[in-house]
Amino acid sequence: MAAPTATISGLTTPVVLLDRVKVENNIRTMQLACDAAGVKLWPHIKTHKMVEVARRQLAAGAEGLTCAKLGEAEAMLPSGVKRIFIAHSLVDTRIAPRLAALADQLAELRVAATSPAQTEALVKVAQAAECNLKVMIAVDTGLGREGVRYATEANKIAALIKASPHLELGGFYTHEGQLYAADPGEQQAKVVEVLDRLAAVRDAVDPKQPLWPGCSVTAKLMAATGRVQVVRPGAYMFGDIALAVTSRVMPVSDVAVQVFVTVVDRPEPGLALIDAGSKVFSSDKSPKGVFAMMVDGRDIQVVRVNEEHGYLRGRDVDTLRIGDRIKLMPAHICPVINLTDYVLVTEGDQVVDRWRVDARGRVD
Ligand SMILES: Cc1ncc(COP(=O)(O)O)c(C=O)c1O
Repeated sequence: MAAPTATISGLTTPVVLLDRVKVENNIRTMQLACDAAGVKLWPHIKTHKMVEVARRQLAAGAEGLTCAKLGEAEAMLPSGVKRIFIAHSLVDTRIAPRLAALADQLAELRVAATSPAQTEALVKVAQAAECNLKVMIAVDTGLGREGVRYATEANKIAALIKASPHLELGGFYTHEGQLYAADPGEQQAKVVEVLDRLAAVRDAVDPKQPLWPGCSVTAKLMAATGRVQVVRPGAYMFGDIALAVTSRVMPVSDVAVQVFVTVVDRPEPGLALIDAGSKVFSSDKSPKGVFAMMVDGRDIQVVRVNEEHGYLRGRDVDTLRIGDRIKLMPAHICPVINLTDYVLVTEGDQVVDRWRVDARGRVD
């Protein structure tokens, strides 16, 4: 990929472009929605993995950061973050020294209790780390991934937490990612269903504990209910096809990241090949089978990827010529960022900065 130059026209491709004004607007808008509802924001950094973005989220008013892994949390420390929630099932005592070192550098470290058996392992991790941790009990509200299915399991977890000198119950969380598949007209009703489920499990254990749902589709709706204390959206400050086209929770014009690519061949009418494939876009596609799409009004989509090629089809594909350079909005932004070392920050056609993807590959 190219080094930053003064203008986009000087760049070689493929390269990931980040619109500075749009990303800062998206950060501010989510923060304002949370502030207006009296809800705290703990954005999930799994989408951006960048200290530069975390810094802006914290400066805008985010109370803490959510991370998927210990490695992500470690990579975010230079942002000045003081509160982190690792929303993953920690089970291995070998991580104890890293966990202790992380806790030492924070005012608050929260971890997840995702089942009674996992909590038994977590108790041992905390014991080995000799550090005090707040524990968020995970509730499955329909995704079918981690989290208790029944209140009885939550009560077992709460008892294990109470018996541990290192652990303290800090609330109940869920990731309601299944709502990406909900019809936009049904989102409000589904949010209430998710909350009812989360609150029912919480109430069976301790009605005074806070509720922490987390998803970019639902974050503003959740905050507005007045029933939650924290939201943890991740993808909202960038956007993608999932948020702007499928779920329609943000306009396409607010999507802040685009992949800049070149048309490298036109092997037959109705088909153009570009210089970016699954190593740039990943293998994630929209429910309509689209890996990325143009947003300049032309009907052109990436409908297939090999490692180094993207296949463009659509009504307007024959308007493209070899050497044309185009911007594409990806289907799912999280893996796209994890596949690049840095993004180029733009203002209009100017390249104004280059931000490192600090937690790239930090899946440890
Ligand atoms: C536990 C957890 N919290 C929050 C999020 C953020 O949700 P979104 O990707 O909708 O922004 C995710 C995303 O996968 C997640 O797994």
